[in-house]
Formats: sequence, structure tokens, C-alpha cells
Amino acid sequence: MENIIKKLLETHSLTVDEYEDLITNVNISDREVLRCEAVKLSKEIYGNEIYVRGLIEISNICKNNCYYCGIRAGNKNCERYRLTANDIYDCCKMGYDLGYRTFVLQGGEDLYYTDDLMAEIISNIRKKYPGCAITLSIGEKEKETYQKFFDAGANRYLLRHEAANKKYYETIHPKEMSYEHRMKCLLNLRDIGFQVGAGFMVGSPKQTNRDLAMDLKFIEEFKPEMCGIGPFIPHKDTIYRDEKAGSIDMVLLLLSIIRIINPHVLLPATTALGTIDKEGREKGVLHGANVIMPNLSPSDARKKYLLYDGKVSVNDVASEYKNNLDKLMESMGYKIAISRGDCKK
Ligand code: 5AD
Repeated sequence: MENIIKKLLETHSLTVDEYEDLITNVNISDREVLRCEAVKLSKEIYGNEIYVRGLIEISNICKNNCYYCGIRAGNKNCERYRLTANDIYDCCKMGYDLGYRTFVLQGGEDLYYTDDLMAEIISNIRKKYPGCAITLSIGEKEKETYQKFFDAGANRYLLRHEAANKKYYETIHPKEMSYEHRMKCLLNLRDIGFQVGAGFMVGSPKQTNRDLAMDLKFIEEFKPEMCGIGPFIPHKDTIYRDEKAGSIDMVLLLLSIIRIINPHVLLPATTALGTIDKEGREKGVLHGANVIMPNLSPSDARKKYLLYDGKVSVNDVASEYKNNLDKLMESMGYKIAISRGDCKK
């Protein structure tokens, strides 16, 4: 184990076998070594600044049927909503006034937002906030569409790869969804010039440490600018309702390893992490995360954008949340940055 950790710290790279060995056999003191190294790297590159992104959940209507997800098309119990362009602009305004300089437009794959409508929304936000970053997280599209969004002024795109092992990807997705297409999307986004975010869930049903080791190798090789990971959490209206949630310790370990593999990566302490542990965000930061994504969605949208059960912050008021977050991060020796928070690669 000592040799594997030494190799990881020196070369930022391991084989899949070594990643598997590492995450399977680390003891408590190894974890602490990794955690300290991750925090050190994050501070060397990003100082004590934590970047924030204003998250706008634009729609919970989705054409896909991912087995794990609460807003999958087949869920008849999900109360659907979508925001209008004006609703979205209102969220941006509120976010801007609170000091957010990145807006993340996230939603299910909702065909109501045609390419033209989306491009119009993006270019209106771009015109109004020339100094802000616009991040999209609206799923798989063809390359021309991504190009159109980029030309309209979007800068970043989050599309979790979900699983680097094709066999496991196919275990948690219906056959209409293609591993190859998802991977192709990530390559296309990069090719166009987006800052790209990949990522995966931890502890989803039947996932093995081998699968996670393959995710780590993928992150090492693809080097996304951002990497979103969080625990799997069951949702009552999915076939995984009785499965157990992913372990916080594994998420924290993987956050540290990802920071070490890819020191410049933007690494969020995700909402799912804050949901399985009330101090999840803090713990995330103390394991190498440097991004938090507060919710700017209107409160009834927030209550309906439920990918898993028990989601936190559905009742928070954006301004109060921001104040509390500022104080919390200060108490930990960090400060929330008022900036776009680009990747420093
Ligand atoms: N638990 C945790 N994360 C989930 N996601 C979807 N469903 C769940 C769940 N039940 C994640 C997926 C998706 C992102 C938006 O949320 O990885 O890409």
C-alpha cells in the first residue's frame, strides 16, 4: 500500500489494478495521508477560496429512464415542471445580486427547450452578464447543438459519464441509452472548447471497486476540468428503492484521490454529499473539494427536482443559505470567492 500511495503522490497516475487495490485496502492512516495531500494541492492552486455556482434546475421533465433517477420518464408519481425563459432570467438576477458569477442551467432532457430556444436563453444571459460563466447540464445532444450553445455564449458543460465501465453503465441504464454516445458527447464538448465536467455516483447498486477504479482511470486520462461525484441515494419511485445509499467514507476518499490525480480539477462538494451527512459539504472541502453549488431554483421547482429521496436545502432561502455558507466557510479558514471561478489549468 505504501508503494502505491507513493506512486500516486509522485506520478498522479496508477493502473486500474492499483486504483482498485488502493480503494479496497486503505487503512485510516492512509486515508489521512491522502486527505492531507489533497487539501495541500487544492490550497496550492486555489488558495483558501471556495468557488460557488448558482444552480438553476430548469426542468424535471426528462425523456430518459435511468434506473436510479427520480425524474426518469417512467416515474408517474413525479410532479413535472419547467421554468420559462423569464423564470430563468429571474434566477440569474437573484444569483448575481447574491454574488454568484457562474450560473448552472441544469435539467432533464426536456425537448421543450429546442436548440433555438436554448441558444436564445444563453445569449440573453450572456448579454446581461458578460463577466459571468454560463454552465449547461442538460444532457446528451448532437455536436452541432453543442456548438450552437457554445456560440451563443455558454462556457462549460456538465455531463457525468456515470460509469467508465461499459458493462456497468449498461447495468444502471436502459438499453436505449448508449455508453458510446455519452462518451462521444464528452469528446465533442471538449473539441468545441467547453470546459467539461464528468463524474459518477458512488455506491450505486451492483457497483464494484473495480468499476470505481475504472472511473478513476477515466478521470486521470480524460482530465475533465470539473468532476462531480456524490453518493448514490435511493429514490422511492425507482427499482432501486430498497438499495442502500453509497458510503460517505468512500466518497470522501475518492474526492481526495481525484484531487491528487488531477490537482487543478474543480471538485464540487455535491448536494448528494450534503444529503447523506449534514456536514457533508464541510467534509468534502476538508477532503479536497473546492466548489459548492447552491440552489437558486424557485422553491416549488426545488421541491419537485428530486433525483433521490431526502434532498437537502429544498426549503432554504437563497440569500440565507449564502450568508450561512459564507460564515461556515470562514469558520473553516476558507472564503467564498466572488468570481467566475475558472479552472486554473
Ligand atoms: N442518487 C445520487 N445521484 C443521482 N443522480 C441521479 N440520480 C441519483 C441518485 N438516485 C446523479 C446522476 C446525474 C446527476 C445529475 O445526479 O449522476 O448525472
